[in-house]
Amino acid sequence: MSVRAGDLELRWIDDEVLVHLAELAGRGIHDPDTMPFEHPWSRGTAEEVARSVLTFQWGIRNRVSPDAFVLEFAVLRDGVPAGVQGLTANDWSVLRRVNTGSWLGRAHQGRGIGTRMRMLALHLAFEGLGAREATSGAFVDNGPSNAVSRRVGYESDGAFFVAREGVAVLHNRFVMSRERWESLRRDHIAALGAPIEMRGVDSFRTSIESVLAGD
Ligand SMILES: CC(C)(COP(=O)(O)OP(=O)(O)OC[C@H]1O[C@@H](n2cnc3c(N)ncnc32)[C@H](O)[C@@H]1OP(=O)(O)O)[C@@H](O)C(=O)NCCC(=O)NCCS
Repeated sequence: MSVRAGDLELRWIDDEVLVHLAELAGRGIHDPDTMPFEHPWSRGTAEEVARSVLTFQWGIRNRVSPDAFVLEFAVLRDGVPAGVQGLTANDWSVLRRVNTGSWLGRAHQGRGIGTRMRMLALHLAFEGLGAREATSGAFVDNGPSNAVSRRVGYESDGAFFVAREGVAVLHNRFVMSRERWESLRRDHIAALGAPIEMRGVDSFRTSIESVLAGD
C-alpha cells in the first residue's frame, strides 16, 4: 500500500526500507532532554534505538486483522527514507476510527514534512479506508507535534496525564471527524500541491470488508 503527493510518499514498510529507517532513528529523533513518546524507545545507543525500530516493525506485521490493525508506512521524500507514519485501528468494524503516530529523523524535521505526511495519512484513512474519525495526541511540551495537529485542522479533545519516564505529564488529545476532514479536504490538497495517488488501498479495504461481511 502507498499514498503519494508529489515528492512525498507513504509506503508500506518492507525489510529493505526498514533497515534505512532503523539507521535513521539511531542517528536521533529528538533532543535527549526531551521525550515525545509514551514508551521511551528512542533512548539508548544508536544500535539500541535501531534494534527497537526493527523489533517493533517486525512485531506488528502479524497484527493486521480486519478488526484491529497497525499500518506503518515509511515516509519517503524524493525516495529518501525520512521517518515513519503509523495508523492504528481497534474495533474497526464498529468504530471506523484510526489513531495516528509518527516520527522523522532530525535532519528531516521542521521543513513541513510532518504536516504533509499527516494530511496524506488522513486521506488514506478517510478516502481510502472509509474511516469515520481520526485521533492523534502529543505531550503538551511537544511543540511541533501539537502544531501539526492544529495546523492540519484537528479539534482539541482535552488532555489527560500519562506516565512518562516516571513523571505524570499532560498529553493533549486531538480529533478529526469525517465531516471536518471533508470540509478541509480542498485545503489539504492545495497544501500538498500535487494530485494524491493511492496504490493497494482499495484491495486492502476490500479484503477486510469481505472478511467482516463473512464472505
Ligand atoms: C512531530 C514531527 C513528526 C513534526 O514533523 P515536522 O516536519 O517537524 O513538522 P512541520 O515542519 O510540518 O511543522 C512543525 C510545526 O511546529 C512548529 N514548531 C516548531 N517548533 C516548535 C516549538 N518548539 N513550539 C511550538 N511550535 C513549534 C512549526 O512552526 C511548525 O508549525 P507551522 O507550520 O504552523 O509554523 C517531527 O518534528 C518529529 O518527528 N518529532 C520527533 C518525534 C515526535 O515528536 N513524534 C510525535 C510524537 S506525538
